[in-house]
Amino acid sequence: MEFRKYKNEEIDKIEALFVKTFSDSEGEAEGKLIGELASALLTKTNSEDLYAYNALANGQIIASIIFTRLEFEKGKFNAFLLSPVAVLPEYQGRGIGQKLINFGHKALKKKGIELVFTYGDINFYSKVGYKKISEEIVNAPLKLSYPEGWLGQNLNNGEIPVITSASYCVEALNDPKYW
Ligand SMILES: CC(C)(COP(=O)(O)OP(=O)(O)OC[C@H]1O[C@@H](n2cnc3c(N)ncnc32)[C@H](O)[C@@H]1OP(=O)(O)O)[C@@H](O)C(=O)NCCC(=O)NCCS
Repeated sequence: MEFRKYKNEEIDKIEALFVKTFSDSEGEAEGKLIGELASALLTKTNSEDLYAYNALANGQIIASIIFTRLEFEKGKFNAFLLSPVAVLPEYQGRGIGQKLINFGHKALKKKGIELVFTYGDINFYSKVGYKKISEEIVNAPLKLSYPEGWLGQNLNNGEIPVITSASYCVEALNDPKYW
């Protein structure tokens, strides 16, 4: 198994991986939606606001993760949002998702990124360090349909600071249908 940064020529394969994985777990419409999101994130986001990594087995992409910038007051916090992540159905439940997320966190920490957030199931994300956060502590960029899914962690010391300013996600995620 190899973990590495994505390459531009892999974008179609990454989109297909998200379509397949989310169609399998949540239905065709969700698969299409998340595939389009992954493609938009990878093609429309400035390179300084994007980190994406793949897991490969025998040269094939079997899992993929995308982090994009979450901006607060200019220059105040170095924060990224994990969304989406997927492991191909036949490879799920073997620890690959957790390893890929941890690989991503380590790479982001090396780049000086302090805070990471995501929006999902705490039962899974708590395995890789995320905790539930109230919007009184950190504002989500859009209105949340499932506020319990707003999660975060500090990659340096575990403490999430209180951030009073609004937060802003990248353009591809700036749509209520994802929140
Ligand atoms: C979620 C996902 C990325 C996890 O990757 P994975 O390689 O299957 O997970 P791991 O093997 O590293 O970890 C498995 C653990 O996470 C839990 N888990 C896996 N998927 C979960 C999910 N969707 N919700 C809650 N818990 C989940 C398992 O119960 C297991 O816990 P256990 O070891 O205590 O039994 C992967 O299953 C996937 O792509 N699922 C479909 C798409 C998706 O739901 N993406 C994330 C949206 S929040």
